[in-house]
Amino acid sequence: MPQHMEIGSQLKSGGQHRGYDLITSDVSNGSVIKSKDIPKQRIKEHIKIAVDEHLHWRKNDIKSSVALCPLTERPLQHDWTLYCIKSRPQHHIRAAIGIILVKMSKLTLPIIPSRHRALVLHSTRDPYDMSVVETETPKAEMGSAVVRVLAAAVLTYANRVYSGRKPYLYPKSFVPGSSAVGRVVDVGQDATKLKPEQLIYFDTYVQGRDDTTALFLHGLSGGFTPGSNKLMETVWRDSTYAEYAKLPLENCFPLDEARLLGSPAEGGLGYSFSDLVYLFTISIPFGGLRDVDVKAGEKVVISPATGAFGSAAVFSALAMGARVVAMSRTLSSLEPLKQLGFGDRIQFVQNTGDVETDVKELTKDGPADVFFDISPGAAIKSTHFKSCIQSLRRGGRVSLMGAHQELTLPTQFIMLYDITIKGKWMYTKEDMRVMINLVETGYLKLGEVGGIKTVGTFPLEEFDAAFDAASKMRGSGLQVVIVP
Ligand SMILES: NC(=O)c1ccc[n+]([C@@H]2O[C@H](COP(=O)([O-])OP(=O)(O)OC[C@H]3O[C@@H](n4cnc5c(N)ncnc54)[C@H](OP(=O)(O)O)[C@@H]3O)[C@@H](O)[C@H]2O)c1
Repeated sequence: MPQHMEIGSQLKSGGQHRGYDLITSDVSNGSVIKSKDIPKQRIKEHIKIAVDEHLHWRKNDIKSSVALCPLTERPLQHDWTLYCIKSRPQHHIRAAIGIILVKMSKLTLPIIPSRHRALVLHSTRDPYDMSVVETETPKAEMGSAVVRVLAAAVLTYANRVYSGRKPYLYPKSFVPGSSAVGRVVDVGQDATKLKPEQLIYFDTYVQGRDDTTALFLHGLSGGFTPGSNKLMETVWRDSTYAEYAKLPLENCFPLDEARLLGSPAEGGLGYSFSDLVYLFTISIPFGGLRDVDVKAGEKVVISPATGAFGSAAVFSALAMGARVVAMSRTLSSLEPLKQLGFGDRIQFVQNTGDVETDVKELTKDGPADVFFDISPGAAIKSTHFKSCIQSLRRGGRVSLMGAHQELTLPTQFIMLYDITIKGKWMYTKEDMRVMINLVETGYLKLGEVGGIKTVGTFPLEEFDAAFDAASKMRGSGLQVVIVP
């Protein structure tokens, strides 16, 4: 019989108990800590902080899953049980548990270490001139929040951007990054809603406060105006491939943690931090689809429907209530989408390269309302632009999100059929709020249940492997994340 022992006596402070009743320890073999009602993710985060700060328990001391579970998203071996290294003396285990408990206590604000680890791009070079450095932790100033980064997105072409093969304008040196999920640890004085402890989704698309046309991608690209360049070079230089990041308040969207991370048995959706990072991939086509005002019941042709953003467009359009026609050059690559059980709300059409054949197939149950494209530059000569536009009804709408220098379009058809063509870079703040709402209400599903798979989770040091894995993703609903 395991011998469970309360360990709370360690945790009395000023005569006040600090949550010691939440955890008991099996000290018969010095190995088990049991939690009754602390969410698993919270334990993982706080253990990570305890370990990082070298409070009594050095990293080398921990060789079991406790050491590795934090933020690597490896599941704890049993849902509510953490294993400690057996050989540790009992008082060490107690001390470590004590640290974790004190940090989990509502009475204790998060401790922000004075220094943290960040991935720095020193110069643009192929292979990368990047390394993880220990540096001063950013401090919250007016208009900003400092966030403990829990998991950050990786673009499919991050390898080309940071090696200079896809030339983007960014300052050197700087901390690269992307949209991320994090926990607020400090806020500037002008924060009215965000507070420490709040789980947030950080949106990488930053807008100038005194000039809404000064737009740039935090950690990736300085945008296209002197104002946007200035913002990235100065106040928002360092991004989320770091343990802590200073971020614009308005780009930190509060998340309903209990709903999103809570267990399904208790009304939660059971997502992990990585699952939530997929909001990044969804957000881009979501912005384009909303920009052409997709409505429930409309027929939306999405081509290509297979890449990172194309497949996310399919998930978005379905969540908006549309009927989707998913197009690809190879029908077999649409197979994963077929498995998701959307029934007759989704049809699959091959891009054969023959416009007449493809228009016939796309319109066999009537013309479409919307055509959405987010193809890469390599697709500039693809026939899908013509076949998809020619499958639209009079007054149909087109959202072009793919980045093409100069595209040839069927302008006579566009004129005769009153077609509206809109380009869209990213999305609006309102799009973000609607998207998060759809996820929290369960209409837009993430994780396994939504057909989304995190194919790789990498620490900062393995950025090279993360970029490589992201560039090699082929299929629907795939992502790679960096967990600092
Ligand atoms: N507007 C914005 O705000 C925004 C934001 C982010 C990214 N983007 C753009 O989105 C683009 C797509 O990114 P992604 O990561 O989803 O792309 P991706 O995964 O590299 O490619 C998407 C799909 O494009 C199709 N494709 C590739 N080469 C083609 C060719 N030669 N002819 C016809 N189809 C071809 C393929 O579909 P099939 O094999 O199934 O046909 C592929 O699965 C990027 O190039 C980027 O510039 C735009």
